[in-house]
Amino acid sequence: MQSMNKPIVVANWKMNPQSLAEAKRLFDSVGKGLKDIKNTEVVICPPFIYLPLLNNGGRTSIKLGAQDVFWEKKGAFTGEISSKMLKDLGCQYVIIGHSERRRYFNETDEVVNKKLKTALATKLNPILCIGETQQERKKGKTKEILKRQLTNALEKISDFRLHTSDFVIAYEPIWAIGTGKACSPAEAKRAGDFIRSTVSNIYNQKFAENLSILYGGSVNSQNAKPYIFEADFQGLLIGGASLKAKEFIKIVKSVS
Ligand code: PGA
Repeated sequence: MQSMNKPIVVANWKMNPQSLAEAKRLFDSVGKGLKDIKNTEVVICPPFIYLPLLNNGGRTSIKLGAQDVFWEKKGAFTGEISSKMLKDLGCQYVIIGHSERRRYFNETDEVVNKKLKTALATKLNPILCIGETQQERKKGKTKEILKRQLTNALEKISDFRLHTSDFVIAYEPIWAIGTGKACSPAEAKRAGDFIRSTVSNIYNQKFAENLSILYGGSVNSQNAKPYIFEADFQGLLIGGASLKAKEFIKIVKSVS
């Protein structure tokens, strides 16, 4: 079972860089370096405040994504950003349930589910992040955790007519994020295959077969390739290495 979608490479800038000037420079360098890339979907997810300033009206093929979204449509929710606001700024994607949000902002599976539904309702493509901690992995609980996260995140999702082109799942083992210890392609493949079969059970087989599943966690230009060509992932989610234009360009080229 392998989807034939073109690879998706997502840059998660997290809370970087520290100035708009740097953000613009990074965005422009990546845009220039990848201007001839046609068979890969490249998505950059900067901090919210840089979004309008990087929205160049489609002058490059790079797509914009947000790192989070709030589930309510509008109103008295101090500090939050709605899905409609993101769409208005030219966002096509949104990362939902990143482990840093779960960990530092107490995002539960229930919150993730609400955010997912909001994104789907406004046609913002969700990039749903799931993954186990080192402790859970050591106890042999990886599958159990992934299944729980998927089951809860996708609850009542059948109310939406999902298209695989609008939906992305990222397998991000927490112990591999920002640690320089990437998960081996073989171990990642086991998790990726399990995610696909679980989605098939929860939602439906056709959807699961065509779903893009990404790997994320300490990916760099040296280790990127096997996740796509050996481990059957349809793309990558890149944190640290997406902040260096040259490195990020190399990663995209290596899987294109
Ligand atoms: P990393 O982050 O590439 O720095 O490990 C990945 C992520 O958190 O999405």
